[in-house]
Amino acid sequence: MISSNKQRKSIALAKPLFDGSELEGIQKVLESGWVTQGPVIGQFEKVVADYVGAPFAVASSNCTTAMHLGWLAMNIGKGDDVLCPSYSFIASANAVRHAGAEPVFADIDAETWNIDAEATRKTILEKYDSKLKNKATGNTLKAVLVVHQIGIPCDLDKFAALSKEFGIPIVEDAACAIGSIYDGTKIGGSGNLCAFSFHPRKVITTGEGGMLTCSNAEIDKTARVYRAHGMSVSDLARHQASNLTFENYDVVGYNFRMTDIQASIGISQFKLLESIVEKRIKIGQQYNDAFSKITGIKTINLPDYISRWNYQSYPVTVKSGGAELRNKMMAFLEKEGVSTRRGIPPIHLEPAYRAHNGEHLPNTVSVSESSFFIPIYPQLEQDDIEYIIDVVRNAAKEVIG
Ligand SMILES: Cc1ncc(COP(=O)(O)O)c(C=O)c1O
Repeated sequence: MISSNKQRKSIALAKPLFDGSELEGIQKVLESGWVTQGPVIGQFEKVVADYVGAPFAVASSNCTTAMHLGWLAMNIGKGDDVLCPSYSFIASANAVRHAGAEPVFADIDAETWNIDAEATRKTILEKYDSKLKNKATGNTLKAVLVVHQIGIPCDLDKFAALSKEFGIPIVEDAACAIGSIYDGTKIGGSGNLCAFSFHPRKVITTGEGGMLTCSNAEIDKTARVYRAHGMSVSDLARHQASNLTFENYDVVGYNFRMTDIQASIGISQFKLLESIVEKRIKIGQQYNDAFSKITGIKTINLPDYISRWNYQSYPVTVKSGGAELRNKMMAFLEKEGVSTRRGIPPIHLEPAYRAHNGEHLPNTVSVSESSFFIPIYPQLEQDDIEYIIDVVRNAAKEVIG
């Protein structure tokens, strides 16, 4: 039985989890007087690199700037194309544009909601000649950006095969995917360039924050230079040098720096990561069990190559009726105090990407229109979880029948 909205507090869609241990780290940073690009940045970078199994990690102000640094370090820019999904937060494509390159979109797999390797291959063969020149624009295809959407690992082996076939690198937008595991390897440990977000909507957070991981020393070095105004010698290296050291500026860089305050929060958050992911998985499995019994809605079927999904978000999909029924379901949940968010809007339909508006990406559009997200985070009590399940069940009964 659903209680009325007046009787219970509304349930937020997402909540970051802090356990108070962050405060000691913050205090130490403040007392040190070194609050940005100091030693704690390097400590946080090592924590992330060790956790994901990457040789290098570069902390930045957010995931969008981490991806931008990746493109700059790979020398991808004007006259280049990057193939990516349209079913992603717009930042995935924006970072490509910020670097001066152009995103070209491929459709997603309808089951996993991740960019589909077969659709990617087809797009390459249709839009590019044998030298990977775009037949319409003359741009050169330089990389494929896969997105581990809502933390679900994308099929990296298939993309490794594509990378080999066409001789182009794979870059991973892992904004949502810290703690997810692809076929036994943590996301970030593939050897590809990979960018993480520590925005509060993610599994762990530094307020704002991002991290670029990679296995290439040159990329790591170049990304660090672009991160701090193009400075050839970092503040820390200059400070630690035994003789007088001056920097120079060979490239026009950016201020994409993370602060040591954020990095210290990040170090504390990593200590909570495993338990946060475990709790999310338990909630996700309760939702899966309950919702698989509701006709009219659909849950995600995980393929075998996914060793662990961190459940960064939990999606509910209406099997038919598209946006109209989806919106009615959302309105029902909101009325009962359960916050929701619509499925990710396709990038290619946004005015900022108007040149791509006419593209045919049927899975992208249908997943976006038929899905919405419901609350999932460790602070949800068992009675909250059961309440949410109840509300979804009643919404399906009333709206879908
Ligand atoms: C798939 C994806 N890529 C990139 C981003 C951008 O991350 P940030 O806000 O840290 O720049 C997000 C954020 O929601 C995202 O979901």
